[in-house]
Amino acid sequence: MATLVGGICTSHVPAIGAAVDHNRTGDPKWKALFEGVRPAQDWMRKARPDVVIVVYNDHASRFDLDLTPTFALGVGESFMPHDEGHGARPVPVCEGDPEFGWHLVESMVLMDEFDITMVNNMTVDHGCTVPLSLAFGQPGQWPCRVIPLCVNVIQYPQPTANRCYRLGQAIRRAIDSYGQDIRIAIFGTGGMSHQLQGERAGLINADYDRMWLDRIVTDPLALSRIGHTELLREAGSEGLEIIMWLVMRGAMNETVRLVHRFYHVPASNTAYGMLILENA
Ligand code: DHB
Ligand code: FE
Repeated sequence: MATLVGGICTSHVPAIGAAVDHNRTGDPKWKALFEGVRPAQDWMRKARPDVVIVVYNDHASRFDLDLTPTFALGVGESFMPHDEGHGARPVPVCEGDPEFGWHLVESMVLMDEFDITMVNNMTVDHGCTVPLSLAFGQPGQWPCRVIPLCVNVIQYPQPTANRCYRLGQAIRRAIDSYGQDIRIAIFGTGGMSHQLQGERAGLINADYDRMWLDRIVTDPLALSRIGHTELLREAGSEGLEIIMWLVMRGAMNETVRLVHRFYHVPASNTAYGMLILENA
C-alpha cells in the first residue's frame, strides 16, 4: 500500500526561485530565509518520497481566462517549467507518474464524486517549481516524480477553503487505496499574506499569518470554515492562495506532528511561511 510520509506548506514567491537560479541564496537579503527553510531539504532526504503531489496555482501561465479549471491534475509523463517572461527557470523537468495520477483521478471522480480536470499537456510555473527548489535545492533532476495539482485561486469564483480541505481528504482516500508500495509527500503552496495590486499593494498581516500557522497544525477544521471575504480583507487578494494549504492538511491525519515552523517577512512582496508536518 502507498504511504503518505508527510506534508510541507510553503509560500511560492518567484523571487525565491530567482535567488536560487542566480546563486544569491547567501546574499544578506536572502540569507535568513534560506537558513530558515533548510530543514525542508534535510527532511526530504530522510522522508525519501517516490512521488510528491504539489498543490499550487497556475498564474495565468498554462491556463488563462480562456480556460480556468477549478482543480486540474497532471496525469502526463512529464511537465516542463513554463516560460513566465524571462525564459523558463533552469530547473529540471518534472517527471510525472501517470499510473498514480490516473489512480488519483479515478478514485476522486468515481469514489468521492470529486470531479477533477485531467491534464496531459501541462507546463508548471513558479507556483510548482519554487517549492521544489526549496525542498531539493538545485539538482540535475528532481529526486522523485511530481504530480502537479493546480487550484484556481485567481479567477472568481474560487473554490472555498472547505472544498480545498475536502479535496485533501479525497486525495488521502486515493493514496490509501493505491496498491503500489510507494512513498508519497504532499505540498500545499502559496500565501501567506500578500497583495500585489491596487490600493492595498504591499499588505502584510503577520498576526493573521501566525494564526494560520498555529491552526493548520491544531485546528484545520476552523480554517476550512473561513470565507473568501475574511481572506481578502486579512491576507490580501493574493493571500487567498493559502486555501491550498488546506488541501495538504486534509490529506494528513487529524493529528499531526510539527517537524518545523518558519515565518519570515518580507520575501519579495510577500510574507513567507513554511511548515513541515508528519502524521502523528
Ligand atoms: C509574489 C508572490 C506570489 O505568490 C506570486 O505568485 C507572485 C509574486 C511576490 O511576492 O512578488
Ligand atoms: Fe502566487
